[in-house]
Amino acid sequence: MAIPEQAQMQAPWEYTETPPMDDLLFQQWVELLEKRTGILLPESRKTFLITNLISRMREVKSPDYQAYLHLVTNGSSGQVEWETLVDRLTVHETRFYRDNNALNLIHDNYLKEIIDGKEKPYTVHAWSVGCATGEEPYSLAMLMDYTFLNHNELYYGVTASDVSRAALQTGRDAIYHKRRIKNVPEHIAKTYLEPVDEEHVQVRSTLKQKVCFTQINLLDLAQQPTGMMDIILCQNVLIYFKRELRNLILDHLTTRLKPGGILVLGAGEVFGWTHPELDLINYESTLAFKRRAENDEVNK
Ligand SMILES: C[S@@+](CC[C@H](N)C(=O)[O-])C[C@H]1O[C@@H](n2cnc3c(N)ncnc32)[C@H](O)[C@@H]1O
Repeated sequence: MAIPEQAQMQAPWEYTETPPMDDLLFQQWVELLEKRTGILLPESRKTFLITNLISRMREVKSPDYQAYLHLVTNGSSGQVEWETLVDRLTVHETRFYRDNNALNLIHDNYLKEIIDGKEKPYTVHAWSVGCATGEEPYSLAMLMDYTFLNHNELYYGVTASDVSRAALQTGRDAIYHKRRIKNVPEHIAKTYLEPVDEEHVQVRSTLKQKVCFTQINLLDLAQQPTGMMDIILCQNVLIYFKRELRNLILDHLTTRLKPGGILVLGAGEVFGWTHPELDLINYESTLAFKRRAENDEVNK
């Protein structure tokens, strides 16, 4: 088909129509995303992929999908470009106090036990895995800070990790639109958030200091020097992964849990996974496990 005269004068990235992507090329992109992040991209998400690729290809003036694939998969500039692209191809939907039941479970099944326990001083180490733009780790920090307000010998720290550098930067900046804090209880919002302008709030610096953002790809967990954790919160992340990979990641996260520590997932996110060192915690509308303490009997 002859190319219209006007189109001939335009650079390809200026085309107003989205170029089609054939099945082979779609498959190549699907495989790249799965190999590098574990995320499965079903056919139903093809439009999502194309929209985001085109938007980025326009920015870097890449002439077509194949050329852009070559750019992303080659050399150190490809690695840098991938960092930008991965942020566009991952879903960062989140909000403060997104899963109130999970926070209540953490309070009732872990923090209260720490308060009542004898071992003090004690520092609770928590990890928000796939933390996106920071709302989840800050919610966890708010919960722990408030719970420990009158307990001078109890401390805490939160590690917040994600594959997307851009999302992590938003977390470090800690400035959020007010619509993202709708679920935060009023007393908590008053204590830990302060206004920036009519529409935005920021996390107070005392709380901000307790959350450490770091880039960790869940596919590279074995190479990550994370310490042993009291609480691991991993919600709305593994749903994008294949079942076998999901199970491998869960097995690995379990090795990072202290005896007695808890692993909190999203309710209904994982089916059929069990671990010989974990007991299911029965708590309303949640999915969570406790690592057996070394001297506990197997609870069958
Ligand atoms: C939907 S958000 C979940 C945010 C938060 N956990 C929550 O429940 O509100 C999913 C996050 O998982 C991250 N993610 C996806 N694949 C990942 C990987 N291989 N390693 C680390 N993080 C990943 C994405 O970048 C995204 O920020």
